[in-house]
Amino acid sequence: MAEPQRESWGSRLGFILAAAGSAIGLGNIWKFPYVAGQNGGAAFVLIYLAGIALLGLPILIGEIIIGRHAKANAVRSYRMFGGSPRWRAAGIWGVAGGILLLSYYCVVGGWTLGYIIKSASNPLGSTSTVQEARELFSLFTGNPVEVVVYHAAFLSLTAASIITGIQNGIEKWNKFLLPLLFVILVILIIRSNTLEGSSRGLAYYLVPDFSRIRVTTFIEAFGQCFFSLSLGLGAMVTYGSYLRGDEHIVRSSAMIVFLDTLAAFMAGLVIFPAAYAFSMDPGQGPGLTFHVIPVIFSRIPLGQLFSVLFFILLAVAALTSAMSLLELAVAFCIDELHWARPKSVVAMSLLVFIVGLPSALSFNLIAGWKPFPGMTFFSLADTLTSSIVLPFGGIWICLALLKSHAAGIAREELSKDKIPPIWISLWIFMMRGIVPVILLLLILYSFLR
Ligand code: PHE
Repeated sequence: MAEPQRESWGSRLGFILAAAGSAIGLGNIWKFPYVAGQNGGAAFVLIYLAGIALLGLPILIGEIIIGRHAKANAVRSYRMFGGSPRWRAAGIWGVAGGILLLSYYCVVGGWTLGYIIKSASNPLGSTSTVQEARELFSLFTGNPVEVVVYHAAFLSLTAASIITGIQNGIEKWNKFLLPLLFVILVILIIRSNTLEGSSRGLAYYLVPDFSRIRVTTFIEAFGQCFFSLSLGLGAMVTYGSYLRGDEHIVRSSAMIVFLDTLAAFMAGLVIFPAAYAFSMDPGQGPGLTFHVIPVIFSRIPLGQLFSVLFFILLAVAALTSAMSLLELAVAFCIDELHWARPKSVVAMSLLVFIVGLPSALSFNLIAGWKPFPGMTFFSLADTLTSSIVLPFGGIWICLALLKSHAAGIAREELSKDKIPPIWISLWIFMMRGIVPVILLLLILYSFLR
């Protein structure tokens, strides 16, 4: 039976926006500001940029090469790149890891939807202290029915955006949502930086404090850049597989990296000035978004409007990332199981919903259940994916490249883009020697922590 023709992106811009949409996510808006806050502000940003050059960009180029070469789902793409059926395992690793990551990502995505509605209908407007905001957050996540319904709602939005395919679904939505995201960021930056007392926050963020740099700062920054660029699972392999073959891989990758870093940097420009204006500690960790933001917005004129905007921003960022994770699994079902797209989307969404249930319930019904010492299911899923599954996913690519088969494919693909041979050799050298060492250090660090 002849296979139906495979879809592709309508334009190079469409691909770049979709891939940037995957990269720009909760990692940028939620995690980057607080990790930077804990690690010396601007000094951290500089190290982060080094991480992008040494780790992020090389692997991103690698993933797109693998996908564009095979024009198939991640499992088949890794198999073709590795040159023997064993390499299917690397793809399966990514698809399974993607399902696990998406399952708790959608729970947090659900919270953002909940907070849009809560801030629009105002109970957030009355939270005038961080203590109150914290209580409101526990009350919300402590209600099993509510979080499960929001989890399902977020997942349904993700499924609905990709069910219509690549050009009419993913590409169309990203072309609309990504510019929207940047517009909201600009509005919030202006609001935040016109608050009284905000300039100290800006100084903290922009003037590097190298005395706060530790060895661990490098590890944090490199790990963050890996997660932020959606690497290690095959999401970028899958998006790269819808390229027609005449798009320039290195130039597109540089653009994706630029947009991703810009968004993270801009999120910091919203958070730090606002936090300082209200004398709140920007280094206080993950609660920054859900505990501090509502309070800040409750204290300024038109705060409710900005609060709604902020949570729309978070939801949009999360949604465009979730699309790429669902597509990773869906492309597998379409290519390997020969299912139609709608069936694949529905089946994979149901699977993600079920796997996500224990994460959604980790804050209420099963809060006492610790599948791993000191960790709820939610934190286990988070740690397992970001500290183990993703970095190993990068290592598989480096291992494959040790063989001349994979290196040959990479050379061939990059030559099509007219990359000079000396640059190609430099890239292969980095992927064989430098990148895997950094990734092993990341994994080691997460075990010792
Ligand atoms: N890059 C996304 C973020 O910053 C998360 C992600 C990781 C998405 C891996 C896809 C694959 O939130």
